[in-house]
Amino acid sequence: MLKDIVIVTLVCIIILLMGDKIFQPPQEFNDRLSVIPESCTTIDNNMYNEKFFVEGWWDLSSKSITSGLHALNPVRRDYFQNLIREHVNGSNLNIVDIGCGGGILTEALAIINPSSNITGLDQSSNSIQTAADHAKQSNVNNIHYAVSSAYSIPLPDSFADVVVMSDVLEHLHDLTLAMSEVSRILKPGGIFLYDTINRNRFTVAFIIFTEHIIKIIPRGAHDWRLFITPDEMIKLSNKVGLSSCPPSEMRGMSPRLSLKSLENIFMSILSGNNPCNYIISDIYENGFLFGNYLGYSLKNKVRL
Ligand SMILES: C[S@@+](CC[C@H](N)C(=O)[O-])C[C@H]1O[C@@H](n2cnc3c(N)ncnc32)[C@H](O)[C@@H]1O
Ligand SMILES: *[C@@H]1O[C@H](CO)[C@@H](O)[C@H](O)[C@H]1NC(C)=O
Ligand SMILES: *[C@@H]1O[C@H](CO)[C@@H](O)[C@H](O)[C@H]1NC(C)=O
Repeated sequence: MLKDIVIVTLVCIIILLMGDKIFQPPQEFNDRLSVIPESCTTIDNNMYNEKFFVEGWWDLSSKSITSGLHALNPVRRDYFQNLIREHVNGSNLNIVDIGCGGGILTEALAIINPSSNITGLDQSSNSIQTAADHAKQSNVNNIHYAVSSAYSIPLPDSFADVVVMSDVLEHLHDLTLAMSEVSRILKPGGIFLYDTINRNRFTVAFIIFTEHIIKIIPRGAHDWRLFITPDEMIKLSNKVGLSSCPPSEMRGMSPRLSLKSLENIFMSILSGNNPCNYIISDIYENGFLFGNYLGYSLKNKVRL
C-alpha cells in the first residue's frame, strides 16, 4: 500500500516537472485548410460501416457508443433551430445534413420542421440504411437519405436553404473542397450550421484520456490534429465565399460539472466502471469554446 502511494506520488512529481514536454502536442499540420493526405492521419472514418456503430446509432443506453452524440443532440438542435428561424424563416425549406450518420440529428430536425424537405447524406452505406430504417419505424416521412461523400454532393447549385454538418468537419481531410460543396448547394441567403471540436491542449488531453486510457471512445474515432480552431473556421468560410458569424456568436457545449459529478466520475474510474454516464450527463450551451463548439456562416444574398 505504502509502496503504491510512493510510486503514484513519484509519477505525479515527474509529470509535474516534465509536464510541458510530455503534454506538448506533436507538430500539427502546417495548414489545416489545405489537403491532408489520409496516410498522414490516424482517423478511421470506415468504422461507421462496422457492426458496432451501425447497431449503436440508436442504442440509447448509457454504455452506447453514440451516447455522447445523443447527449449533445437537444443542445445542437435548439441552437440550429433558432438560427433557422432567424435567418431563413419559412416553411418548405430544403435542409441538407451532410455526414448524417444514423440520423440522430437529421430526425430531430425533421420532426421540428415537419413541412420541410430534409436530405441526409453520408458516405457510410450501412449507417444510411440504419438511418432510413429508423425514420420509417418512427413514422418520420420528410427525410430523403442517400449515400454520398461530402466532397461531391449529388444536389444542384443553390438547392438548400440550410446545410448542416454536425460533428463531421473534424473528420475531413479536405475541408476546403467539402466547404466549397456546401457553398455551391446553398441558396443565396441560406445558412450553414455546424458544430466541431476545437484544437488545443485540453482537447488533445481529452482524446488521449477517452480513447487511450479509459477507452470509452474507440481508438481512431478522432485524430486531434484534424480538430479545427474557431479562427480556422472563419478563414475557411471566407475562403469558400461564406460569411462566418463572429466568434461572439459561437457557443460551446459541455457537461455541467459539479463537485458531486466529479466525485462520481472519479469513483467510477477507480472501481473500473464506465464513467461516460457522469461525463456527458446534462450537456448545456455556454460561452466556453475550448471543447466542442457551435457556429454558423451565411451565404450572402445577391444584391440587385
Ligand atoms: C461523428 S459522426 C456524426 C454523425 C451525425 N452527424 C451526428 O452528429 O449524429 C461522423 C460522420 O461523418 C461521416 N463522414 C466522415 N467522412 C465523411 C465524408 N468524407 N463524406 C461523408 N460523410 C463522412 C461518417 O460516416 C460519420 O457518419
Ligand atoms: C417567422 O415568420 C412568421 C410568419 O411568417 C412570423 O410570425 C415570425 O415572427 C417570423 N419569425 C422571425 C424570427 O422573423
Ligand atoms: C427534396 O429533396 C430531394 C433531395 O433529397 C429532392 O430530390 C426533391 O426534389 C426535394 N423535394 C422538394 C419538394 O424540394
